[in-house]
Amino acid sequence: MPEATFHFPSDFKWGTATSSHQVEGENTNNDWWAWEQEEGRIKEGHRSGRACDWWQRAEEDFDRAAELGQNAHRLSVEWSRIEPREGYFDDAALDRYREILRGLRERDIEPMVTLHHFINPLWLAEMGGWENPRVVPLFERYVARVVEALGEFCTLWCTVNEPNVLAYLGYVLGVFPPGKQDFGAAMKVGRNLMRAHGAAYRRIHDLQPEAQVGFAHNIRVFDPANPRSPLDRWVARWQDRAYNETFLAAVTEGRWRLPLGFGFAWRLRNTLDWIGLNYYTRDVVAFDRRMGKQLFGRNFHPEDAELLDGGYGEFYPEGMGRSLRRLSRLGLPIYITENGIPDADDDQRPRYIVTHLHQVWRVIQGCVPIMGYFHWTLVDNFEWAEGWTLRFGLIELDPETQERRPRRSAYLYRDICKANAITPEIIDEYVPELRPVLLPG
Ligand code: FCB
Repeated sequence: MPEATFHFPSDFKWGTATSSHQVEGENTNNDWWAWEQEEGRIKEGHRSGRACDWWQRAEEDFDRAAELGQNAHRLSVEWSRIEPREGYFDDAALDRYREILRGLRERDIEPMVTLHHFINPLWLAEMGGWENPRVVPLFERYVARVVEALGEFCTLWCTVNEPNVLAYLGYVLGVFPPGKQDFGAAMKVGRNLMRAHGAAYRRIHDLQPEAQVGFAHNIRVFDPANPRSPLDRWVARWQDRAYNETFLAAVTEGRWRLPLGFGFAWRLRNTLDWIGLNYYTRDVVAFDRRMGKQLFGRNFHPEDAELLDGGYGEFYPEGMGRSLRRLSRLGLPIYITENGIPDADDDQRPRYIVTHLHQVWRVIQGCVPIMGYFHWTLVDNFEWAEGWTLRFGLIELDPETQERRPRRSAYLYRDICKANAITPEIIDEYVPELRPVLLPG
């Protein structure tokens, strides 16, 4: 009897995502490196150190990605290497990035380049970082240099990564540098990140008319703990709006919406050629008047939920489908710019990959233009304040010896990339427990 195969579009991009500071190593001239030297900032006192040693030998991992059937890779370039002092651009750093991108192209891997992924040159941090409005023209100038140098190899640009996460973790919770707990500052930073996106969007198109420019938006699903409680519903809606909605409204409608801001942002209107979705998990939210920082919501996970390692959240694949359907209303091409799971022993990842991709497939069936999927991540890397305690890699890394060992998920993902589909054979080999769910009858 023929069985269902979940096919993806013929030009679908299959890749992994990384970011400079998490993989390059010895990336010393920025606010994160400084933060790692402070006691108590990173779990177990871990440091990025050599990371995955990509500044020296990214190409070896590109070989692995190519062998694993990947045809795209999202990576970021490092502002602090490219502009180590304000106004001074380092051609040697740009040359190394040219070599890196050429290395991807030679392996038939299309690069998507992120221009800002959480971290700042020290000189910028010292002048107030993203709170200082000067950051917008400074970012634009840096972006222009990057596009001039790397445009030969790249047309797919991601301006900023997760502006909501950066504002929230750096300026509300204070677990990322600069470690502030100041809601007003967080909103100012959020606005400047979106302004920088808009300025970069225009500048990139001036320099490279064929460019495709977007940003990577982290969407977290917020559901009311008790759907019958008006207060729970109100607080879930409010968190959703603050975290998910306002950043999109700025660059689509050209309006600041509360709490991010108020009034018009005309210059930001329609500054997206595509939208990136970083999806990981969801929260349920109950009203709690003591939780001012969280807009009066207490966030937790349902009692019967399957949880991810290290308190990372709930295993909730439906959230992928819900987030994609929500983004589809923008009428833009969508890339899944990140999706993954911390899972050192790889006991959940195979199911996580297949169930989340099945959700992606379902949304594609509704004619939503989903262009590609970048799994976070290729090789275990430095996971910010969690240090090396959370392992997101398809490939396991020992950061001391730099030894790598593919997890089973690497082969599962390879088989999906090569088939451009989730086939019954893949389900039977890697996740037989999903057969009754995905292939009933
Ligand atoms: C995202 C970040 C990425 C990585 C993953 C696990 O929020 O963009 O750098 O840390 O989470």
